[in-house]
Amino acid sequence: MTDRVPQFAIIAGSGFASFGEDAPGLDISTRFGRPSSTIRQLRYDDHSVYVLLRHGDDHSIAPHAINYRANLAALKLLKVSDVIALNTVGVIREQARPGQLAVPAQLIDFTWGRAHTIYDSPTAELDHIDFTEPFAPALRDSLMAASRAADAECHDGGVYGVTQGPRLETAAEVDRYERAGVDYLGMTLMPEASVARELGIALAPLCLIVNYAAGRSDSSIHADIAENTMTAKLQAMRVLKHFFDEPVNPNPA
Ligand code: HPA
Repeated sequence: MTDRVPQFAIIAGSGFASFGEDAPGLDISTRFGRPSSTIRQLRYDDHSVYVLLRHGDDHSIAPHAINYRANLAALKLLKVSDVIALNTVGVIREQARPGQLAVPAQLIDFTWGRAHTIYDSPTAELDHIDFTEPFAPALRDSLMAASRAADAECHDGGVYGVTQGPRLETAAEVDRYERAGVDYLGMTLMPEASVARELGIALAPLCLIVNYAAGRSDSSIHADIAENTMTAKLQAMRVLKHFFDEPVNPNPA
């Protein structure tokens, strides 16, 4: 048996509009409709990486309005096996701070009303996916290995709470999310992660921590985001460079 050769894709969020902008764009449609953007194909020596912009080419699609199913189904049509989900988060936990990165290990879904499953037709076969571990362990390990190689400040583990948005939280909501065990707050990881699992695609998040969660800092959230997004983004780009240009063994002997 030969080893599986992974086909990677990046689903990029806020701040990554220029990612691969010179690469050719593929226009794909799926049974769930069209994905958020054309899919850019970045070519490397012996492989390629697809890039899809979750919020659209002009960053106009709000988190609740993203067609997550079409995005993942389009990548599936391109035979993508592994997705790195880039997204920005606010941080509750004290050990992490804005400007840094995180690869959470768990999530709690607080979203509602989103088309969240491919099993939406009585005639289609139904599967209850195992979602005990919502992210692909090998991909998480590889992202952490690339982070170490890139000397990036990246936190391993923690819980991502997925909020509905597009508004940010109240201070009382953040207290409640903390009591629920949440470390990071973002708006887009669900149903992205579960639809990927339904389609048999491995997915792991690489989160850019861009602000302290509401009520957890003296500065305003928007000032926080403006100040920290570039630092986090540069760290994420370093991680991706190591991940794709200088792959390292995530489990050295
Ligand atoms: N809350 C929810 N989503 C976010 C945040 C936040 O504080 N920052 C970036 N995305």
